[in-house]
Order: sequence, then C-alpha cells, then structure tokens
Amino acid sequence: MTRCASIDDIVDLFDRFGDEFYGEKVSQRDHALQCAALAVHEGSGPELVAAALLHDVGHLLELADETNYVESIERDRHHQIEGARWLSSLFSPAVTDPIEHHVTAKRWRCTVEDGYTDRLSEASQISLALQGGRLSLRERHVFEASTSFGASLSLRSFDDAGKVSGLSIPPFSSYRTLLESLAVPH
Ligand SMILES: [Fe+2]
Ligand SMILES: [Fe+2]
Repeated sequence: MTRCASIDDIVDLFDRFGDEFYGEKVSQRDHALQCAALAVHEGSGPELVAAALLHDVGHLLELADETNYVESIERDRHHQIEGARWLSSLFSPAVTDPIEHHVTAKRWRCTVEDGYTDRLSEASQISLALQGGRLSLRERHVFEASTSFGASLSLRSFDDAGKVSGLSIPPFSSYRTLLESLAVPH
C-alpha cells in the first residue's frame, strides 16, 4: 500500500500491528495513544493531535512490508518519511510535516540541549546514531527556519513522554471524528 486511502486504512494498520513493541516498554498503539493524549492535555490544535497519534505509522508500515522487513535496530528505514508520505494523500502538511520532522526534532534537541541525549530512552539512543546523530550547522538552520519547527518540537516532547507502561488512556476510536475532520476530500 503506497498511499493511505482512508481512515479505515489507518485503523486497519493499528489493528494488525498496534500490539507490536519496538524496543520501548509500550506497544505501538499505546505509544500513539499516549502521545495523542499528551497533545490534547497540552491544548494542541487538532492537526498536532493527529500528528502525535500517527507520527510512528511508518513503523507499522515497516511491519506490514513483510517482504522487506529488517529490524530498525539494524538499519534506519526513515519511518518518519515513509509515514508522512503514506499519510500525505489524506492529510495536509500541518499534519504530515511534524511527522516527517519528528526525528530531526530529536536530533536538534540532542544538538542544542545539554543532557538531552542522556535522558533519551535506551531504544531512542540506539536509533539516534542510525538516524544521523547531531545536526550539522546547516541542517540545524534549515530545520529552525521550517514552518513546522515549533510543532515538530512539541511532537518530540510528546514522543519522549509517551512511553509509560500500563497507563489507561482514551482508545484509538475516540480520535476517529478528529481524523475525519482533517481528512482532505479526494
Ligand atoms: Fe518515531
Ligand atoms: Fe514515537
């Protein structure tokens, strides 16, 4: 599936692969739901809530790609780009840009914030090296000038915090109406 055609495609992906873990203490589904709940709690707009919910959909696409699946711990498959690309047929850049840049936001924080790298989860520290590590000065300036800079950093903070084992949070279905309101007709 090269493009997401409907909200049902997203629901199907989470139904099939949402229980999978990815080196963190929570499942893909719980991580997505915790990030979305944090976005709501912080008073984020609907686009950022959707981005938080769907930011790691690229990992689910990796799992769906049975013919070519390699553990992300061995090779970076750019899940942020694959996810954003897959969703771009259904959502505007206000949703997909923070998704595309959530790894850059992590690399940016590692570059500019003392101690941030040390506070990352173990899995996130391992993937950091595969994702390119710290940003170069040029990469940093390009990211800081991008329109999604602020939203990407917000998403990154939800991403870091949304890894709590055993938390009770609203289900995926509670975001259905929000996703439908953002879907671009085609
Ligand atoms: Fe991610
Ligand atoms: Fe994530």
